Amino acid sequence: GEHARARLNRPALFAGLLAPRMRNSHKGTFGDVAVLGGARGMAGAGILAARAALYAGAGRVFVAAVDTAPAYDPPQPEIMFRDAAGFAFEGRTVVAGPGLGDSAGATHLLGKVIDGTGPLLVDADALNLCAASPDLATRLAAHEGPTVLTPHPLEAARLLGVTAAIVQADRLEHARELAQRTDAVVVLKGAGSIVARPDGEVALNATGNPGLATGGTGDVLAGLIGTLLSQGWPAWEAALAAVWLHGAAADRLVAGGVGPIGLTAGELPRAIRAELNAL
Ligand code: APR
Ligand code: MG
Repeated sequence: GEHARARLNRPALFAGLLAPRMRNSHKGTFGDVAVLGGARGMAGAGILAARAALYAGAGRVFVAAVDTAPAYDPPQPEIMFRDAAGFAFEGRTVVAGPGLGDSAGATHLLGKVIDGTGPLLVDADALNLCAASPDLATRLAAHEGPTVLTPHPLEAARLLGVTAAIVQADRLEHARELAQRTDAVVVLKGAGSIVARPDGEVALNATGNPGLATGGTGDVLAGLIGTLLSQGWPAWEAALAAVWLHGAAADRLVAGGVGPIGLTAGELPRAIRAELNAL
């Protein structure tokens, strides 16, 4: 068509935003991330997103749980677990979706954070709830503050009202369409993730490998994007950087013999930390 082709995602597009840590910095300098998750049976998804946020350098990381939360995460006691009802989301970056579920309570709390004004990452069940509710979808498109959506092909298909096969047949065009409809930056995940902006700009990501085709790796990406948003990054650069780093971390693990077979999502946060400090 007459649309511009995708550009290749590369560090030159975002590395300028990686500021060195100032000597007088403190944890308030590096962002508060709150994962809205914790549905019964899905606690792990929220914890993976929270661990990713922690290893990406967020100042404070919370899991605001809709149903159930452990007292703490034994390997990662830095993560603070709270009851989502009554949690102060304002002033924090919300990562909505990993382990959220589709209960009435989850739907209500998602609406509350969508109507808030902070940076917002929308993934997984939060995307599905928006696909199922025209009201939530309308409010999402009107969300104030930087907004990033991270659908896999089926989640994108539900939002667009088509099949995953149709999305996959023209990933660029469907990512662009979804970004326009939602007025948000969209990451259409999968081999060769596409990052799309509402104005039609698109970038193709070349890092990453099939070792990532395992449960929970998307939750890690969500937490990483949330951290960059919490540090004031614009949605476009946050999405580009996170997708690049997430794939580069997986490539580094595979080069070191950790995968592709049996790579686990929980191994990614430390590798992402290594990539971030090497940039
Ligand atoms: N090459 C490169 N990257 C890949 C590949 C591949 N072959 N396969 C997967 N990935 C990457 C994607 O780009 C994405 O970043 O791995 C990640 C997978 O994310 P998801 O599809 O969201 O998978 P997951 O983390 O398991 O999702 C958890 O959330 O989406 C819901 O209910 C769904 O159970 C699922 C849960
Ligand atoms: Mg997912």
